[in-house]
Amino acid sequence: MNVLLLLSLLIFNGIVEAATCIQHSDPLNPSKYTVSNCTSGHPSHSTQSQRHRRDELAFNGTNMFHISFSCYGTDSLSCSRAKNTFITAGEIISSVIRFQKPVTVNATFLPFCSMLDICPTDGRKVIGSAYPAVSHLMTDESDNMTRMYPQALLKQFRHLGEVPNWASFDINAKFDSDINWYFEGTGAVANQQQDFLRIVVHEYIHGLGFLNSWNNYLWNTFQQVDPNCTQFLTPMPISPPNQLQSVYDQAQDADGPQPFWGFVEYPLDKLVKINGTNQWLSKSTMQLNGWGNSNVMFASLDDMYHSWQISNYSNTAYQIYNLSIQPDSLTISNKNFGDICLETSLSPFVVGSSLSHFDNKLYDNTVDYLMVYQADPGLNMQQYVASRGGGPLGPKLLSVLQKLGYDLVLAANSTQPKLIPWQQPKNMVGTTDNPSPSVSYVAALVSTTSSSTPSQTMTVSQAVTGISTTPLSLLITMLAIVSLL
Ligand SMILES: *[C@@H]1O[C@H](CO)[C@@H](O)[C@H](O)[C@H]1NC(C)=O
Ligand SMILES: *[C@@H]1O[C@H](CO)[C@@H](O)[C@H](O)[C@H]1NC(C)=O
Ligand SMILES: *[C@@H]1O[C@H](CO)[C@@H](O)[C@H](O)[C@H]1NC(C)=O
Ligand SMILES: *[C@@H]1O[C@H](CO)[C@@H](O)[C@H](O)[C@H]1NC(C)=O
Ligand SMILES: *[C@@H]1O[C@H](CO)[C@@H](O)[C@H](O)[C@H]1NC(C)=O
Ligand SMILES: *[C@@H]1O[C@H](CO)[C@@H](O)[C@H](O)[C@H]1NC(C)=O
Ligand SMILES: *[C@@H]1O[C@H](CO)[C@@H](O)[C@H](O)[C@H]1NC(C)=O
Ligand SMILES: *[C@@H]1O[C@H](CO)[C@@H](O)[C@H](O)[C@H]1NC(C)=O
Ligand SMILES: *[C@@H]1O[C@H](CO)[C@@H](O)[C@H](O)[C@H]1NC(C)=O
Ligand SMILES: [Zn+2]
Repeated sequence: MNVLLLLSLLIFNGIVEAATCIQHSDPLNPSKYTVSNCTSGHPSHSTQSQRHRRDELAFNGTNMFHISFSCYGTDSLSCSRAKNTFITAGEIISSVIRFQKPVTVNATFLPFCSMLDICPTDGRKVIGSAYPAVSHLMTDESDNMTRMYPQALLKQFRHLGEVPNWASFDINAKFDSDINWYFEGTGAVANQQQDFLRIVVHEYIHGLGFLNSWNNYLWNTFQQVDPNCTQFLTPMPISPPNQLQSVYDQAQDADGPQPFWGFVEYPLDKLVKINGTNQWLSKSTMQLNGWGNSNVMFASLDDMYHSWQISNYSNTAYQIYNLSIQPDSLTISNKNFGDICLETSLSPFVVGSSLSHFDNKLYDNTVDYLMVYQADPGLNMQQYVASRGGGPLGPKLLSVLQKLGYDLVLAANSTQPKLIPWQQPKNMVGTTDNPSPSVSYVAALVSTTSSSTPSQTMTVSQAVTGISTTPLSLLITMLAIVSLL
């Protein structure tokens, strides 16, 4: 039984729905996040948003992207050109998506090397990224799976019971001012220039939720105990907002107890299945969440790794890794245009490039070029549109955005699943509710797993919310566009 099924049993009548938010404050480093309790204390919010909504429905050609722009360490002409591009990119997307609520962007343009110490390495350079600033943990009633809904997407949902407490920004975006950018209206694009507009539109789409959650963070962690550990992928490991600070601190040490609370997906993952089969990626997530019932405290990283190895859950994760490096293996079904292949041609897996893009070789030369992971220099958006036809957002991409829950300008309202805020189980290990759970020992070759039991009579000595998670994770840049120099 997985944690998500446990949850639905724990909803009591008359209790204000708790809400859990995941904050990604640095778009260049999505492996770092914080989890917090973002329960709204003000139910009157919903009436306010009703009033806003009516104005926004009158939208015709209005930019629904509200940009808060900061520019540092570069000349004012570049700053104003960059700012105009952030605005134009929002107009382009607003012309094809019928946003019910505005999308708020915290955009920064600055020299990465001198101000952020992100400098070229091995002939590669990170040039910019956008990522959801906040995602809300929501349970989808159509399949009982809990997913991280990027705030920009969740805002568009028409039938949310209680309107969440919206954070001020939906998307954080950071772009490097040291790149030889091409800006609109500055003449012909030179061979070595990257079209800033194309890159910003692409990154905004990630910020709207075109993101796959499968990553190798846990594999990276396990390499500390076994450098030869076979590669595997899992969705994002999650932690509860009321995790004890002491539990977090101890987990930083491989010899300390390691909690496991389950994995969560992004909404895009729900749309993905294994090509030629009826096996959905979400099914694999559900299987993986059976590990320790998604509520277990391992005695050490070593024990955690051994439990993983001897369990059948690891096979699922190895299988998804294998698929992620075989061309044409993961698809989004599409009745109108045929299946869409995600990027699974890179081997080894590249976090941020693999899976979160359309397949490069299949779509780069088509009208759906926008979401491939490579961007050729020397071409601007007009040239792309002229040579590939269509608009910057191709029909396949639009169909995916519609399936996520965005309404398209030229289509009827999208079908949106019924979502309810994730209800945290009461006995999660290492939280204020269950501060001293029994620990699971899984020494190598001797499997003596003792199940975790709640000990709710313990006095809570320390309660901390909103602490950083992903024990022992490596810092890996995800979804940032990397350019070959
Ligand atoms: C979250 O915050 C709300 C309001 O402050 C509170 O009622 C609720 O108990 C909190 N939930 C958790 C899990 O801390
Ligand atoms: C939006 O404006 C265009 C022309 O600018 C017009 O053709 C179209 O009917 C308008 N749409 C709405 C919904 O008002
Ligand atoms: C906006 O982005 C800047 C630069 O990344 C960051 O320092 C700031 O905290 C962000 N603001 C908010 C409210 O998240
Ligand atoms: C989801 O869980 C609820 C409560 O356990 C159950 O009634 C419902 O049938 C489940 N729905 C699906 C699609 O599994
Ligand atoms: C990893 O594999 C290499 C080569 O197969 C071997 O030499 C090394 O001892 C292995 N390391 C561990 C920790 O097993
Ligand atoms: C793991 O899979 C094997 C073979 O499919 C099966 O025999 C075994 O019972 C499974 N173990 C568990 C714990 O599910
Ligand atoms: C993954 O691929 C490797 C190498 O092709 C193969 O040996 C292994 O059995 C595959 N694992 C799974 C779970 O498919
Ligand atoms: C699915 O796989 C088959 C080959 O196994 C391939 O011909 C087909 O193009 C794939 N479908 C997609 C959408 O990639
Ligand atoms: C589409 O959504 C809008 C905004 O929520 C709503 O006002 C309208 O009634 C919906 N249309 C249909 C056909 O459901
Ligand atoms: Zn991308």
